[in-house]
Amino acid sequence: MSDRPVPQPGILKIAPYVPGRSDVPTGVTLVKLSANESPLGTSPKAREAYRSLADNLHIYPEGSSRLLREALGEVHGLDPARIVCGFGSDDILHLLAQIYLGEGDEAVMSQYGFNVYPIITRGASAEIVMAPESDFRADVDAILAAVTPRTKIVFLANPNNPTGTYLGADELRRLHAGLRPDILLVIDSAYAEYVTADDYTPGIDLVDAAENIVMVRTFSKMGIAGERVGWMYGPAHIVDAVHRLRGPFNVTLSGQAVAAAAARDIAFTAELRAHNAKWRDWLARSLASNAIRVPPSQGNFILALFVDAETTRAAFTALRDKGLLVREMHSYGIANGLRISIGLEPHMRAVVEVLKAFGASGAKD
Ligand SMILES: Cc1ncc(COP(=O)(O)O)c(C=O)c1O
Repeated sequence: MSDRPVPQPGILKIAPYVPGRSDVPTGVTLVKLSANESPLGTSPKAREAYRSLADNLHIYPEGSSRLLREALGEVHGLDPARIVCGFGSDDILHLLAQIYLGEGDEAVMSQYGFNVYPIITRGASAEIVMAPESDFRADVDAILAAVTPRTKIVFLANPNNPTGTYLGADELRRLHAGLRPDILLVIDSAYAEYVTADDYTPGIDLVDAAENIVMVRTFSKMGIAGERVGWMYGPAHIVDAVHRLRGPFNVTLSGQAVAAAAARDIAFTAELRAHNAKWRDWLARSLASNAIRVPPSQGNFILALFVDAETTRAAFTALRDKGLLVREMHSYGIANGLRISIGLEPHMRAVVEVLKAFGASGAKD
């Protein structure tokens, strides 16, 4: 017997979360390009929805996020009964890990996959199995080879954060076809709204054709990160299990209203996507050189790979000195990488200007 409370076995194996730095020199204006937020702010309709709630804050929200699920059903052509909403998609991911993983189980994830997956796997006292990537892209064969009789979940961010790379619909289907039916495939399509590739699927068609796939989405990248709203679309039996465990009021009153308005504001989403596609591709072109490599990104960020860790550190500092805060990648084991969120035109131009000293090829208009 211990003389104090003891956490479950996996908890103390979780590496403490290291947030991105937010300090810039005094007197320099901070431009945050480190959290993949919307550079165009929030949908005007979502802001209006938020303002209209001020007199209702004493009331509990509707527990199942019904109006939000109906809005999502309408916009994406889905049955609202097969949607569950959460306090950010992190909430949904945590719930899935808690429900389907336990001691002795394994979760397979890609080498540079989103770093919440290892945390929630350990949180459920299960083991992490990393599948190596080929050139910063998830490798279907490597993921399938990593599966063992103990595997219960495969997590895949598509496109992935922080690499920006993605698997096309055919590869996703091949991945699913290679998994046992008792393994849950979690397709995390957090950046789906930003994808411009023709062969991409967020996963709705895959969910519809199987009993062991869920698609997880978020509103955070689309202008309402502060409200913390995510959602999942899945088969009825998984939706039922998630409802049983989720908090009874796991999306706030304002979160539900704002997200429903944002979901319906197709024009704002389209504007954000077009802005992002233009400056994402411009930034990648303008950085790429013998000294900087940029894996092709479908997200709202790019990963710039430098020749070594020392140069990367110096590039981070030079950007920060101008107020341009980007994300270092040590927590992903990518010592020579900086993740840069797509921002406004002047900020993208400023990034390229600073990185010319580190080998960027220069503005490519
Ligand atoms: C791939 C991926 N999934 C999920 C999330 C979590 O998003 P949320 O803000 O909805 O919790 C993120 C956020 O960075 C992400 O990059």
